[in-house]
Amino acid sequence: MQLEKPADPLPLRCPLEPASKDVNDEALRHVPHMNDIYSSEEKCIQWYGSVSPAVYEETMRLVNFCDPYNIAAQVHNKQIDGGINLPRTAKILDIGCGTGLVARILSREGFKDITGVDASANFLKIAAGDGNYKSLHELFLGRGIEVFKEEIKENFDCVTASGVFLSGHMPKDALDDAHAALNKGGIFVTAMREIYWENGNSHGYKDKLDDMIEKGKFELLKTAQFMRGEEHLTGLFAPLPSILLVLRRVD
Ligand SMILES: C[S@@+](CC[C@H](N)C(=O)[O-])C[C@H]1O[C@@H](n2cnc3c(N)ncnc32)[C@H](O)[C@@H]1O
Repeated sequence: MQLEKPADPLPLRCPLEPASKDVNDEALRHVPHMNDIYSSEEKCIQWYGSVSPAVYEETMRLVNFCDPYNIAAQVHNKQIDGGINLPRTAKILDIGCGTGLVARILSREGFKDITGVDASANFLKIAAGDGNYKSLHELFLGRGIEVFKEEIKENFDCVTASGVFLSGHMPKDALDDAHAALNKGGIFVTAMREIYWENGNSHGYKDKLDDMIEKGKFELLKTAQFMRGEEHLTGLFAPLPSILLVLRRVD
C-alpha cells in the first residue's frame, strides 16, 4: 500500500535572501512606519508609488511577509503536498501583483501564462522587467465590475491575490473583480490576517465572501492557517495568524 506523504507545512519564514547593506539600511528606516502607512489608502498609494521596489521587498522580508510563498505553494504543489497542482498551462491572473513576487515563484515552477494587475505604475515597471508576466495592466480594483476591464473578464483558470486584503488596500468589492476574472470552475487563492476574517469587520471581506458563497458564486474548497509577522514588531506586523483561502468559481 502506498502511504500519502503528509502535507508540507506552510512556510513560516519569508524565504527572500537579505538585500545589500544600503537597501537593508533604508528598509530598516521604513519598518517602524509601516502601521502608519497601512492606515489609509492615500498613504499606501503614496508609499507604493515612491518606495524603491528593492526597498519594498526588503521591508517585506524584514516584517516576515510570507503570503506570496504560501499562496504560490498552494497553486503549484501536488495535492499530496497540500496544493491544488494546477496544470502548468493554466492562465493565471495575479491581482495586486506588486513587484511580482508570486509570478517569480510560479514562473520557476513552470507557469508561463501569468497576467498581472496593480494600481502602482512604480511596481509594474519592475514586475515587467522580470519577464515573468505575459502582460501587465495598471488598474485599480474594487470600483465595480462595470469599470473592470472587459478583456480580463471570464478569462482565467486561477486568480491569486497576495497581501491585498487589509486596511489601505483593496476594498471588498475587489472580490467581485476576482470572481469576474475567473472562468467558471476557476480557482481563487488568497490569504489575509485572521483579524480581517471576521463577520462584522469594517472591511467586510468575510461578509462579502460569505454572501458570494451563499449566492452560489463561489465554493470554499479549503482554508489553512499560517503565521506571519515578527516578535519585535507591533500592530499589523506582530506575529499574527493568517488564513489561506482556496475558492472555486461556481457561477
Ligand atoms: C503588500 S503589496 C503586495 C504585492 C504583491 N502581491 C506581493 O505579494 O508582494 C500590495 C499591492 O496591492 C496593490 N494594491 C492595493 N490596492 C489596490 C487596488 N485597489 N487595486 C489594485 N492594486 C492595489 C498595491 O499597489 C501593492 O502593489
